[in-house]
Amino acid sequence: MSFPLILLLLVVGIVLGLNLLMVFYLLLWLFRKTKAAPYVSSFNKEIDLMKQNLHLHKSKKIVDLGCGDGKALRFFAKEFWLKGSGYDINIYAIVFGKILNRWFGVRDSVQIYKKNFLKVDLSTFDYIYVYLLPWQLAEIEEWIWKTMKKDAIIIANTFKFSKHQSYEIIKNKKGKESIFLYKK
Ligand SMILES: C[S@@+](CC[C@H](N)C(=O)[O-])C[C@H]1O[C@@H](n2cnc3c(N)ncnc32)[C@H](O)[C@@H]1O
Repeated sequence: MSFPLILLLLVVGIVLGLNLLMVFYLLLWLFRKTKAAPYVSSFNKEIDLMKQNLHLHKSKKIVDLGCGDGKALRFFAKEFWLKGSGYDINIYAIVFGKILNRWFGVRDSVQIYKKNFLKVDLSTFDYIYVYLLPWQLAEIEEWIWKTMKKDAIIIANTFKFSKHQSYEIIKNKKGKESIFLYKK
């Protein structure tokens, strides 16, 4: 067999293998008992919207419930000088996030922990950031309102809570409601 043919077979094998792995993980996610929101970082378009429209107070504390690799927290730390704490259960996202924090020089202002966010004491945070699927927001809505600080502000990316009314909605250029702000 010639070298180019071996190389081609190798590449095809790797691509097929990766696709199978992705399908496997998708099936695993679909059929597991607790369907937590998948690890998808906040998109730049929503980050830009927040940059343009939010007015947050420097040095306050923000928590990201399901922080993934901490992308949103790095944004809040860099843009608004907030102190960020993020909690996630996905070890890959956490390890990657810690590397990125080091790379972007925010190790002192952004902490990422491997922990179920339901075990976090929300009462110490001034801002609560969530980018979670609607059904998961519905599951944690009551808990957040019950345990959050009296004057804390909740920032919900893309998906909104079902029972509480936001006091402000930030729309994107096309008029789509994108960021929802809530108070107690
Ligand atoms: C859509 S991602 C959001 C990532 C990040 N907040 C951002 O905006 O870049 C949702 C994350 O929530 C995490 N997650 C879901 N349920 C969780 C739980 N009970 N405790 C901790 N993390 C959770 C998932 O592992 C996933 O990484």
